[in-house]
Amino acid sequence: MNTVTIAPKGNVISLTVDGNTSRFHAMWLRDNALDKDTRSPDNGQRLIALQDIPASTYISQAQLHPQQHPHTLTATFMPENKSLDYPLVWLLEHAYDTSCDPGKGWHKPCQTLWDNRLMGKLPEGDFHRVSTSTQALHTWLAHIARFGFAKLNNGPVKPLALTQVVDLFGHLRETNYGKVFEVKVEEKPTNLAFTGLALQAHTDNPYRDPVPTIQVLYCLESSAPGGDNVLVDGFMAAAQLQKEDPHGFDLLTRYCARFEYAGEEGVCLQAKRPMIELAPDGQLQGIRFNNRSAAPFSDIPFEHMAHYYVAYRRLGEIINDPALEIGFRLKPGDCFVIDNTRVLHARKAFSGSGTRWLQGCYADMDGLLSRLAVLDKAHKKTSQNITED
Ligand code: FE2
Repeated sequence: MNTVTIAPKGNVISLTVDGNTSRFHAMWLRDNALDKDTRSPDNGQRLIALQDIPASTYISQAQLHPQQHPHTLTATFMPENKSLDYPLVWLLEHAYDTSCDPGKGWHKPCQTLWDNRLMGKLPEGDFHRVSTSTQALHTWLAHIARFGFAKLNNGPVKPLALTQVVDLFGHLRETNYGKVFEVKVEEKPTNLAFTGLALQAHTDNPYRDPVPTIQVLYCLESSAPGGDNVLVDGFMAAAQLQKEDPHGFDLLTRYCARFEYAGEEGVCLQAKRPMIELAPDGQLQGIRFNNRSAAPFSDIPFEHMAHYYVAYRRLGEIINDPALEIGFRLKPGDCFVIDNTRVLHARKAFSGSGTRWLQGCYADMDGLLSRLAVLDKAHKKTSQNITED
């Protein structure tokens, strides 16, 4: 049986549903009320500020209504003398009464870390299907959220086709490299990316703040031998470093590295961020790793610098380990989209014979995750309707 009890001062309730108990503070419940005076029915935005709720708020009465559909809790808040309803499903979805501390370096359960065993089952989609079916788009975007990347194959072989890829989920982010940048051999390269040299696995543009969180690389010509693309899951590399050397991992998360790019006239981009970034609750937020644009590190205390370099070196070795990398060759019309805060990309060297022409651009994960969340909701609604029918 489901029950609700109120603590003596009315500042907390305990809700037991199917044998599991969650406590909620009266202030939290009042602040998150779902009624039309607290939340706009039009856009879901909160209509009141916390200052509009009395600091002395407490709950005088709480009742469950098992006969209602959906099952609901009604709580009466004093001194406002205001009764508000909360669906139990909503309360359980937003419950925060958990004592487990996930520690440092955890990642979202919806993210799957990977290594080279992902070869042969690469997350990918077909350009035409993903562009014309919301279900195929949903699956493809979910791959990017889960693995930090996905390929998209068989697109148009024409310049700027990559902007159509970005249109599927968000907006292009223009930078000093332009809306779109060309990745082909240049005579006087402004960046080593525009040469035939092999590039160590890296994240792009760590010298920006905020960093572009998505990169798209789209192949238009690919007859030069070599130049295969290689991807590495930076979260997997960070997890391995943490397992081997927890103190070294801690140093890379606790102290900022510095990055700089001043390779062209009128540009001097600088950023100061940790190589492995954690949220205050320990969640892995992102990786910045790029030997080409690392600037002198001057934010690590002298007594920690030697071990910092040991950890930095080891992280690079882990990233270079073939056991972690997947590789593939793009054919004209193929592209890949990566979460640039998680997945590192590399390129094998390619020769002067034949051609290799890719176009690249940046966009952002928030737009992609927004599109995915909207499709997720629509998908759940459709499945629910099918069940109810
Ligand atoms: Fe790059």
